[in-house]
Amino acid sequence: MSRQKIILWALILTCLASFTVLLSMGSNTYREMPPIPSQVISDNGRILFTEEDIQQGQMAWRSMGGHQLGSVWGHGSYVAPDWSADWLHRELLAWLEIRAQGQFDNSYDALSAAQQSSLQAELKADVRRNRYNPETGTITLSDTRFDAIKMVQTHYLSLFGDDPELQPLREQYAMKEGTLPSLQRREDLTAFIFWSAWATATDRVDQPGVSYTNNWPHEPLVDNLPTSSITVWSILSVVVLIFGVAALAWYHSTLKHDPLPTPAKEDPIFSHQPSPSQRALGKYFLTAIGLFMLQIVLGGITAHYAVEGQQFYGIPLSDILPYSLTRTWHTQLAVFWIATLWLATGLYIAPALSGGREPKWQKLGVNLLWLALLVVVLGSMAGEWLAVQQVLDIDLSYWFGHQGHEYIDLGRFWQILLMVGLVIWLALVTAAIRPALKEQNDHKPVIWLLYVSVVAIGLFYGAGLMMGKHTNLAMAEYWRWWVVHLWVEGFFETFATAVIALMFVRLGLIRARSANAAVLFATLIFLSGGIIGTAHHWYFTGTPTSVLAWGSIFSALEVVPLALIGFEAYEQYRLRNAASWMTNYKWAIMFFVATAFWNMFGAGMLGFLINPPISLYYVQGLNTTAAHGHGAFMGVYGMLGIGLMLFCLMGLSKGRGWNQKLLKWAFWSMNIGLMAMLVMSLLPVGIIQFFAAIDHGYWFARSPEVLQSELVRQLVWWRVPGDILFAIGGMFIAMFLFGLVKASWAAKRARKLATA
Ligand code: HEM
Ligand SMILES: [Fe+2]
Repeated sequence: MSRQKIILWALILTCLASFTVLLSMGSNTYREMPPIPSQVISDNGRILFTEEDIQQGQMAWRSMGGHQLGSVWGHGSYVAPDWSADWLHRELLAWLEIRAQGQFDNSYDALSAAQQSSLQAELKADVRRNRYNPETGTITLSDTRFDAIKMVQTHYLSLFGDDPELQPLREQYAMKEGTLPSLQRREDLTAFIFWSAWATATDRVDQPGVSYTNNWPHEPLVDNLPTSSITVWSILSVVVLIFGVAALAWYHSTLKHDPLPTPAKEDPIFSHQPSPSQRALGKYFLTAIGLFMLQIVLGGITAHYAVEGQQFYGIPLSDILPYSLTRTWHTQLAVFWIATLWLATGLYIAPALSGGREPKWQKLGVNLLWLALLVVVLGSMAGEWLAVQQVLDIDLSYWFGHQGHEYIDLGRFWQILLMVGLVIWLALVTAAIRPALKEQNDHKPVIWLLYVSVVAIGLFYGAGLMMGKHTNLAMAEYWRWWVVHLWVEGFFETFATAVIALMFVRLGLIRARSANAAVLFATLIFLSGGIIGTAHHWYFTGTPTSVLAWGSIFSALEVVPLALIGFEAYEQYRLRNAASWMTNYKWAIMFFVATAFWNMFGAGMLGFLINPPISLYYVQGLNTTAAHGHGAFMGVYGMLGIGLMLFCLMGLSKGRGWNQKLLKWAFWSMNIGLMAMLVMSLLPVGIIQFFAAIDHGYWFARSPEVLQSELVRQLVWWRVPGDILFAIGGMFIAMFLFGLVKASWAAKRARKLATA
């Protein structure tokens, strides 16, 4: 068997084995997740919440933006608290206060250390003991706890309403006045948040000392501390990473490098005339960059809310565009504009690979898909606004408003429409790429791999449809990450590797035969860590302990190729001068090099910083995640999207109106701006929070005491220079596109004049 065949078989087996593991983690989670009780009652028979309250509460939470306002189980946004950790901490303090008054007739703070620790011991026994009865489905709580919960509930009812006394706190949390104007929804919300907090500190039935969320969040008052699994698997994951890097470096050193082929005298691929459907793609690029501009503006506003929670330089913006909405749009637009560039690249490259042959209706399909995309983008954004303004009925809000799940925020109707759009895209790419798939040529394996990744990107979005209105949050997180993680850390990486290799092969700069094996091998390495690595998002979401082992070890393997990606980047960098016509592609290639850099720094290093369970135990949902998210998402896929766009645009514009200087400025200001944003602001704030979480508990790291402290506020301002530099870079890209449009109009006019 040839080396290529061996790798191919290894790849197929790896995917089969990995998905088996992933599915079995799902069924184990389903069995062991925190139960939703039929009733929560007290020892003396008072009813606190019912199953319906909790489920309607989940819907209320989703309707106001869910993950986009604070977080639950550590997943979500970073300015408001983590509600589960906040609720738990407040409940524990209330419990201690009630008992201090009852037993010692004094406030808890005034008690002696001995009295305090005796109460704490009782508290711990009361809270950790699992009193869920599977037969009746009820959770029974002590009377003290019942009273404590009622106190926390009062606070939450005021906080999510418009009680003037809590306005300063809402301001610090970047919440609008009257976040949930309906008292019913607020009451339901408290049931859901209570349940999420209950799961974090209640021991599992068969594992004393380990809660449903593997003892997350860190809460010293009830000994919610890292379990032994958390520590052991973290250390093993570091060892595995070192071993992986060593093994791959060894492998690299054994490879023979084929000499590069002599490039053609002229640009061989994009010198042909673009097909009708390719010419219809210009608007995709304009739309994508328009959405990118909007995303930057919304990012600026969202960041500003961290210092002025309800206003924008004195204007009461949060009444109409609150933080939860600007952040929803900011993150959603990132997905939309990058996806638009990728869709366009797929649609561009498919006919190119088939030598310009395409079905007659291809152009019509491309135009219709563009319209469908516009409808989804604008419709979902409008729905999100209506949901956050709380004008929709709770079910309508789910269908057309806000689903409250970060990265799958759009209402279910829009989500289905987007899925349909992806299937249309798949059909269009299939129709155009078919001749190339059938043809016997040297680079068939890479074309197939590209095609398979297109299919996977299209179909895996469907996993997001697996959860319904009332799905237990543990299962909802399970399915959500099937989309988000498997996309970005699995199939996107495959698509990226294959598409870049194909570009170079078609340009005649690398040999197809060496590209085949290299791309297959890279995919094998990415997917062998990336698929099971999904579990690094499930460490603390109500999953069994085994998830810690799978997640930590396999996601550490994901970092192995990223650590050594410099080898590949250098090869690409070398190619930029391979032929004289390559100067046209210089900046497209530089954007690929930037993609590799951010893969190493933003995804690899900043990803691994938060990846070992013992690290994520403290830093989940802190600004370290924001640093990683920006470095990886914008750094890797944003830069790649722009690089791919430039490749396609060179073919479409034939170099007319191509302004290299503008691209150079765009490149450097975007990259330096992004780096400045991370190292001058997000990362230092994250590290300060990291210390706070270890010293005092997770709730503290997310509290205004830390986030509104003088030092952190200063650091938030330090974001501004990087943000502005980055925004200017984005504007240069927009100006560059504008130059191409102008040149193309001028050429059209000239042609008309010539024929007239
Ligand atoms: C280019 C590839 C990647 C992209 C685009 C990406 C993007 C993101 C984004 C946007 C988030 C934030 C999600 C949220 O706010 O809930 C995130 C979270 C996370 N990423 Fe990545 N990531 C990539 C690669 C990696 C790698 C290689 C690792 C480490 C092996 C990693 C580890 C993590 C972890 C542990 C979290 C969870 C953080 C938390 O819940 O607070 N990521 N990633
Ligand atoms: Fe991930």
